[in-house]
Amino acid sequence: MKHTHLPFIDYPANNKILTRELLEKEYPAFVRHIEKVFDAGQSHIFRWWSELTPSEKKNLLDQIATIDFCLIKKLFNSAVLRPAQTSQENLTPPHVIAFQKNDAEKEMAQRVKLIGESSLQKGEVAILTVAGGDGTRMGISVPKGTFSITPITQKSIFQLHAEKIIAGQKRYNIRIPWYIMTSKNNDAATQNFFKERQFFGLNPQQVFFFTQDMFPVVDLQGNVMMDLKSNIIMSPNGHGGVLVALKEKGVLNDMKRRGIKNIFYHQVDNVLIKIADPVFVGYHLRDEAEISLKVVKKCHAEEKVGIVVYINGNLHMIEYSELSRKDMYAKNEDGALKYHAGNIAVHMININFLEKVYQEGESLPYHAAIKKVPYLGEDGSVIDPKQNNAIKFESFIFDILRYVKKSVIMEVPREDEFSPVKNMEGENSPATSRQDMINQFGRWLRNIGVSIPTDSQGNVIGTIEISPGFALDEEELKTKVDKQLQFNGTLFF
Ligand code: UTP
Repeated sequence: MKHTHLPFIDYPANNKILTRELLEKEYPAFVRHIEKVFDAGQSHIFRWWSELTPSEKKNLLDQIATIDFCLIKKLFNSAVLRPAQTSQENLTPPHVIAFQKNDAEKEMAQRVKLIGESSLQKGEVAILTVAGGDGTRMGISVPKGTFSITPITQKSIFQLHAEKIIAGQKRYNIRIPWYIMTSKNNDAATQNFFKERQFFGLNPQQVFFFTQDMFPVVDLQGNVMMDLKSNIIMSPNGHGGVLVALKEKGVLNDMKRRGIKNIFYHQVDNVLIKIADPVFVGYHLRDEAEISLKVVKKCHAEEKVGIVVYINGNLHMIEYSELSRKDMYAKNEDGALKYHAGNIAVHMININFLEKVYQEGESLPYHAAIKKVPYLGEDGSVIDPKQNNAIKFESFIFDILRYVKKSVIMEVPREDEFSPVKNMEGENSPATSRQDMINQFGRWLRNIGVSIPTDSQGNVIGTIEISPGFALDEEELKTKVDKQLQFNGTLFF
């Protein structure tokens, strides 16, 4: 892809030369924006100008007016110049609350759970689901949350979350507000999905949608890409975009009006998510944490998961791609990985802490991700690239950790709490997530005393689905299922 950045655009076909001056004369209200496009060397955006209808021209200019072209240039230069891996000085592993293996730890968890339950009962916790991502790796054209996922009844991911919230509400006898962040790309489809399915039994008044900001996609030379002759390709600005969106879309004020003190944050694609886990809420409150995190032990040194560490005494999350090989393989004396706390993006976030971050004017940095994005070629036809050809700039929620002074990091068993749907096939796919759900239900039943056969990999032989409305966890299942139950290969409650 080669673009020329001339102070004019030449249209030999119709013998016309489009200059910046001409454009500015034609659209005086957009002078400032047109100037920025040319100054940033992005004038190729106007390549097809003479072919556009007046309304397409206006749409393109309106879009241009929303874009910070200087920032694109700055980000592109820093992404190109930044080394891929950063060896960190003064890296130390964080203190982690291990999941309850012995009686003392179990007793502590029970005590802490009461604190969490009490806050949930008072309606002080809201659920925040980030669902604004394009889900490009899945290669589907619908929002990821609408994807059918449960092993037998094929409920969507959104329905699964909704049923967990409904089950939680019954326990705490309250209505839990659910905030869902979408993007311009998937907001309408997401909201329609909820409406068409009557909000899965939730009260529509308790579900709030808000959109995050978008950012232009550039090619590997830093040129803004287009998918129509009058449209610049935009993608959501990363899950870190939630910080600005919470403030600017009035969500934080809405939460405060409702008496919310802490937010339970999770990503839409984790099908094993324990929504508003009272033990987690309890630890967060007991330690008056600003942000709390759930982590899982990394399976092996090269697992593609970000790790939670301290750098110079400050909490950080380092992306797997940014971790040096030395730190990746570092071991403790017992041979275990030194940096093992894998981030699963499940957080409790204190609202006052967020306000403090806003007041101090802190903002999150952008990271560059190289992706494969279809685009409009020089001749105006759509090109579906075979290789990565584009850079998306995204901010990440975990960059807020550097401002955190008080936190709780809680290790949880991966098989019980983390199974994200990222790819259509292979690892972290619908197939692995379904199997993880089946295996979890199988474990619950086995612990009750029901005989459930497994294969050599430990996978249940057969299919099981337990609706959150029937039992949200093993303890609840125990009160409803008899150990005499005979499993004949398929089981649904
Ligand atoms: P991922 O980084 O896995 O992105 O998002 P994705 O969009 O789901 O998938 P790919 O990378 O395009 O294949 C993790 C979580 O963060 C949300 C996603 O919806 C998912 O819940 N997210 C991501 C946002 O809400 N906004 C974004 O801009 C990016």
